[in-house]
Amino acid sequence: MSSHAVGVDVIETDRVARVLSKHPERFLSRVFTPAEVAFCRGRVPELAARFAAKEAMMKALGTGARSVAWRDIEVLPDRRGKPMVYLYGGAKRRATTIGLDAIDVSLTHLQGISMAVVVATQERPEMDRDEARARLIGVLQSRGLLGDDEQNPDLE
Ligand SMILES: CC(C)(COP(=O)(O)OP(=O)(O)OC[C@H]1O[C@@H](n2cnc3c(N)ncnc32)[C@H](O)[C@@H]1OP(=O)(O)O)[C@@H](O)C(=O)NCCC(=O)NCCS
Repeated sequence: MSSHAVGVDVIETDRVARVLSKHPERFLSRVFTPAEVAFCRGRVPELAARFAAKEAMMKALGTGARSVAWRDIEVLPDRRGKPMVYLYGGAKRRATTIGLDAIDVSLTHLQGISMAVVVATQERPEMDRDEARARLIGVLQSRGLLGDDEQNPDLE
């Protein structure tokens, strides 16, 4: 049965401005594809919103930033200006593994903050929900952070 994947991220635009002015070449070439750099033309709100979109996409992929390269996620507008997400390399492989499809992104920027939300359909959830919860409960109990009788609110 297919389900949904969602990811959200918000970033302080000033933070991106600072990194951009300190290490412009390194930041742009490490994080953005040549087409993104060409489209954004150094405009900080656009770069910041795309940075947020990449993080939101990483969350929808369920990986965080560790196993996916920034440039494997590209966000470019269609001819009406609506942003579209394109995946490459590790991000594409990961999306295929978990059956991510119909990926959509929305961006917004106010003065000071930029934000993005990604949604997609997901064909193959990586982990069973109940197993994931039971695993965490086991870890919390083994660390003495949760009592044996406190694991299920339905039982109270
Ligand atoms: C998850 C990630 C993509 C974003 O983390 P972040 O921006 O530091 O922090 P956020 O507050 O946006 O996100 C944290 C939330 O992400 C979620 N998250 C963590 N790991 C996740 C994963 N593997 N999949 C999906 N969501 C995840 C969690 O809900 C977490 O909040 P919680 O701990 O309260 O549950 C992180 O992997 C990361 O490494 N980010 C890189 C940050 C960076 O380089 N910043 C430079 C700015 S110029």
